[in-house]
Amino acid sequence: METKIINMDLENIEKEKLNEAAQVLRDGGTVAFPTETVYGLGANALDEEAIKKIFKAKGRPSDNPLIVHISRVEELNGLVKKIPSKAKILMEKFWPGPLTIIFEKTDKIPYAITGGLETVAIRMPSHPIANELIHMAQVPVAAPSANISGKPSPTKGEHVIYDLNGKVDVIISGGSCDVGLESTVVDVTEEPMILRPGGITKEQLEKVLGVIKVDKAIETGDTNMVPKAPGMKYTHYSPKADVVIIEGALDDMVDYIKKLKLQKEKEGLSVGIMCTDETKDFYEGVCLSMGSRKDLSTIANHLFDILRKFDEKDIDIIFAESVEKKFLGHAVMNRMIKAAGYHVIQIGG
Ligand code: TXA
Ligand code: MG
Repeated sequence: METKIINMDLENIEKEKLNEAAQVLRDGGTVAFPTETVYGLGANALDEEAIKKIFKAKGRPSDNPLIVHISRVEELNGLVKKIPSKAKILMEKFWPGPLTIIFEKTDKIPYAITGGLETVAIRMPSHPIANELIHMAQVPVAAPSANISGKPSPTKGEHVIYDLNGKVDVIISGGSCDVGLESTVVDVTEEPMILRPGGITKEQLEKVLGVIKVDKAIETGDTNMVPKAPGMKYTHYSPKADVVIIEGALDDMVDYIKKLKLQKEKEGLSVGIMCTDETKDFYEGVCLSMGSRKDLSTIANHLFDILRKFDEKDIDIIFAESVEKKFLGHAVMNRMIKAAGYHVIQIGG
């Protein structure tokens, strides 16, 4: 399949080109596009044949439901049975933006979207290209992250081209994503619960909803616990190399990682280190900084790009420093821990 690549400048969104992509969506094709979180791979959410193309291009398990994207609140009409008051609060505060809300679905939403569930995940992205594209398409747009399943989510046009060129109809390459990790998925159909930490933090949600739970199943590697967001059970975000996370006080982490590096190199393995600006001068060899510990948004923004960069460097094992599980650090650590297949070493007191 030949993929049409459309380069688009955020400062100068060319409506004609976007309209062409919108037409492809209306005609049942697949279009990858930038959002403020990560790139999405879109198709008409009401067209089962189109939805199948998404699963095929990504190699995605069919029981992993897709998020439906809209561009205006009115577009919820007909897609969901009701809008609970807590959902209204969240929509007013965080839409458009990196928050996905779970609703009870109507018959209009095919089960192919929801993996057989009676609920549907809906998000209204704020990225001007995403928002305009969906608006022009005049259909709700199902869009998972635009990566091959299991790989780190794409945060740059080149990531999408690397993964999906030849597998989708159109790729809109429109620069880097702001947030760099996916939306927060929150369920308010029952007692509010975060099903996937993401671009909107628990702290931000609690300011408007009060104390909110996080699905326990996503915090552990316990395979007996079933996460409420089916996608959270899969290994994700994995680079080719094994990833091991080191958790502890900063100085201890640095010393421990240096020791582990020497040990693994003696065994003949090539080692990469995922560090931070504060620690990068303490290491030798392949060491990529995620950014400063003082700015978690930069760390979130660089995370997936760095995981992909290690793939280019022929590394066997990556030792990653942990960050504090606060604010965006919660989502950062969730993605890192999954990249590591729950391989975390706790050190110190
Ligand atoms: O930021 C994002 O959310 C990006 C951009 C493209 O919008 N999309 C994204 O989609 O990350 P995806 O498919 O990679 O992740 C969707 C997550 C999965 O964990 C899935 O299981 C969960 O949302 N999900 C979707 N529908 C659900 C439902 N009805 N109930 C529970 N979880 C659901
Ligand atoms: Mg994904």
